Amino acid sequence: MELSSFNMFLLFLILFSAAAIVAQDILPGSTLHASNPQQSWTSPNKSFTLSFIHESDNAYFAAITYNGVPIWRAGGDPGGSVNSSAELRFLQDGNLQLVVVAGPTTSLVWQSNTSGQGIDSASLDNSGNFMLKNGNVPIWTTFDNPTDTIMPEQNFTVGDVLRCGFYSFHLLSSGRISLRWNSSVEYYTYAGINVTNTLNVSSPSLAMQSVGILSLLDPLFTNDVFMARGSDYGPSDDTLRFVKLDCDGNMRMYSSSLSDGVGSRVVRWTAVSDQCEVFGFCGSFGVCRYDDTDAGPICGCPSRNFEPVDPNDGRRGCRMRGDIRSCQTTMLSLNNTLFLTFPPQIDTDYFTANIRACRSNCLVDSTCVASSSMADGTGVCYMKRSDFISGYHSQILTSTSYVKVCDPAMPNPPVSSRKDGEGSAALEIGVIVLGSSLFIVILVGGFLLFKCRDRPSYESLVSEYSFSDYASGVPVQFSYKKLQQLTKGFKEKLGEGGFGSVYRGILSNKMVVAVKQLEGIGQGEKQFRMEVATISNTHHLNLVRLVGFCSEGKHRLLVYEFMKNGSLDNFIFESSSSSDEKILDWDCRYRIALGTAKGMTYLHEECRDCILHCDIKPENILLDESYNARISDFGLARMLNLNDHRHRSLITVRGTRGYLAPEWIANLPVTSKADVYSYGMVLLEIVSGRRNFEVSPETGNRRFSLWAYEEFEKGNVGAVVDRRLVESDIDIVQAMRLLQVSFWCIQEHPSPRPTMGKVVQMLEGIADVQKPPPPLFLADGSAHPSAVISSVSSSQMTAISSLVSS
Ligand SMILES: *[C@@H]1O[C@H](CO)[C@@H](O)[C@H](O)[C@H]1NC(C)=O
Ligand SMILES: *[C@@H]1O[C@H](CO)[C@@H](O)[C@H](O)[C@H]1NC(C)=O
Ligand SMILES: *[C@@H]1O[C@H](CO)[C@@H](O)[C@H](O)[C@H]1NC(C)=O
Ligand SMILES: *[C@@H]1O[C@H](CO)[C@@H](O)[C@H](O)[C@H]1NC(C)=O
Ligand SMILES: *[C@@H]1O[C@H](CO)[C@@H](O)[C@H](O)[C@H]1NC(C)=O
Repeated sequence: MELSSFNMFLLFLILFSAAAIVAQDILPGSTLHASNPQQSWTSPNKSFTLSFIHESDNAYFAAITYNGVPIWRAGGDPGGSVNSSAELRFLQDGNLQLVVVAGPTTSLVWQSNTSGQGIDSASLDNSGNFMLKNGNVPIWTTFDNPTDTIMPEQNFTVGDVLRCGFYSFHLLSSGRISLRWNSSVEYYTYAGINVTNTLNVSSPSLAMQSVGILSLLDPLFTNDVFMARGSDYGPSDDTLRFVKLDCDGNMRMYSSSLSDGVGSRVVRWTAVSDQCEVFGFCGSFGVCRYDDTDAGPICGCPSRNFEPVDPNDGRRGCRMRGDIRSCQTTMLSLNNTLFLTFPPQIDTDYFTANIRACRSNCLVDSTCVASSSMADGTGVCYMKRSDFISGYHSQILTSTSYVKVCDPAMPNPPVSSRKDGEGSAALEIGVIVLGSSLFIVILVGGFLLFKCRDRPSYESLVSEYSFSDYASGVPVQFSYKKLQQLTKGFKEKLGEGGFGSVYRGILSNKMVVAVKQLEGIGQGEKQFRMEVATISNTHHLNLVRLVGFCSEGKHRLLVYEFMKNGSLDNFIFESSSSSDEKILDWDCRYRIALGTAKGMTYLHEECRDCILHCDIKPENILLDESYNARISDFGLARMLNLNDHRHRSLITVRGTRGYLAPEWIANLPVTSKADVYSYGMVLLEIVSGRRNFEVSPETGNRRFSLWAYEEFEKGNVGAVVDRRLVESDIDIVQAMRLLQVSFWCIQEHPSPRPTMGKVVQMLEGIADVQKPPPPLFLADGSAHPSAVISSVSSSQMTAISSLVSS
């Protein structure tokens, strides 16, 4: 009895599944009608559906959906948009066609082009792949012909393209991925692997793992590289994760969960974190910006010399009033505005010039349409020759831009209209990744500068350029309340510096910032503002940039750009938890040493007011995305009155004494040579990976800096250089030079120490380095840096004092 009912059950199951298979196979001659929303072709377990979707009024498209979310669209977006008389036809000859039927005429919108290949059935499988098959062999699949989405189990490889409108996404044979506008402007790239495919075996591919990881697969080494990880990464039954190129030009990872209801999808990762950095987002001549409402980007026109193409949709761009080919022209000046440039952009020239030359060169050049002066320390001026230019306006941008218009220029606040509807839905932001492509612009800009320095024809332009010509990047003034909001109530503490605590914050344009709450600065408002102005007048690639400030009641805060890789000390010293130790290679260390020296040279010698840092140490040298050294906390010492001993001791107490020059500790007048001393100690630490004041049996219980000099004297350079470095990786001649420079810098007397400018020359090998004398005349080898104070007798202080004043 029991057995027979079980058999019945089995039989039922077999019959049922056989029927299901038949039902799932779609036969030639089948058609879906836009006018009948009930019709669909589904996957065996009903997860995926191919059907017409009603978009708006009389707009439909045929799509494969999961939980009501489209993952493939016949004809793409917007190409596949049709009306209610559209049909999706699986023809007898094997071709799949999207057509619009109007009475007796049928117009073809899109087709798979698969006639005559023996296709006799079609099916949609449980992973969302729709296949046209010859027997069991798939001839054409939606996974091989994607529109705007990459799905789990889909193999996205070289030659495949995702598109929406002017935007496209590509995977290059070198393993680099790229987001492009109109095929030519590459506004986002990621080079996770570098395939030199000499064997020609196969090409790299992208895989979206169902747990929410997008990885790059290297065909030769099969070492997958994570490209992106969704914020909800992890296994989950009813959640589909996919990557989509949205029509606003951004690429996002979404998850759609059945338990969140039909049509739900949440952004889990975004390629370009700042939407205004997507080229062309606001159309031609459109300017993208943010207001204070956190409501996403706003598109507007540069000034009343322009009018919006569509007053209801700012993303359609702007039209110039008048024709610059037949009128008296002038340059409209736009402060804090950048015309996005992603070199090499074919229709853009660059050269180094001061801000005035950037304006006038464009005005007199009949093919130039607009120009942008970077004013970020590179002095690069971009000249745009295309009539499609894409603007970004923000108080945090230092660049000034010019557009050629018919006289008179009518500068006014940009007219704006918010883009609502479709676009804004795509602007929910998941994880903020500081993958700033603006930063790429700046980096590449810097790179170009170096290239053009070698070219004699640009020499006159280079010499014209001077720092005083920079547009001052006016820092934004924040209210205390706003900063509370941006930091979520000072929730996430990044660290504790010599001048106060630092918190993470996110501005409305999604820029991540570090907010420093100054302590112990009993300064008047006016003086504080003066110092803020001085700091914000510094523009150098090796300095952390001040974005804004707050001065309200007793509150004094500074807002800096956030440095993704944190401070140098995390990288050069052996960490207690050796498991996640990050070691910088030799080349990187050399670049950091040189970059720091260049930044300091700028502070001491090149900017308008000489700025003594007074607190150079690895904790104040930050590393950006590309491991460039960026000095932080400069200018803060000026906020303290250094002639007041109590103020000086504030730094002394908070700072690490091993970096403070003897004259500082002895309360003698300090000059820029005090910074040189601190730099020398940092340089020694970069080379050795050990704290200069570290004391151990290995160093004969003396400070490492003293021991290092002796070993160096004995010719034992290898003992001093960081033992964790791979030997073959170290340039030993360079290491010798760095150590020599470091010993010159940490001379007890300020006068023999070189200037920072000289240090740069010596590091670069332009200037010779003599043999350094022993750094310390207090050859006592005191066991701890704090002992220096007690060991400086009053007579020695007088001696130092006379040296300093001589
Ligand atoms: C449908 O099949 C896919 C692939 O086998 C599976 O991941 C998914 O959970 C299934 N869905 C349902 C509703 O059974
Ligand atoms: C992806 O497709 C390429 C080209 O068709 C092929 O060489 C490669 O092996 C595929 N990779 C996977 C993981 O299926
Ligand atoms: C896109 O590129 C093509 C060819 O490269 C060019 O002819 C066209 O003008 C460009 N479109 C726009 C809007 O600039
Ligand atoms: C890739 O590797 C090749 C050869 O090793 C090198 O020439 C090229 O510059 C590398 N490209 C990138 C983007 O790193
Ligand atoms: C690699 O493949 C490309 C395209 O398939 C071909 O043109 C090229 O000659 C091949 N290179 C080698 C070294 O085999």
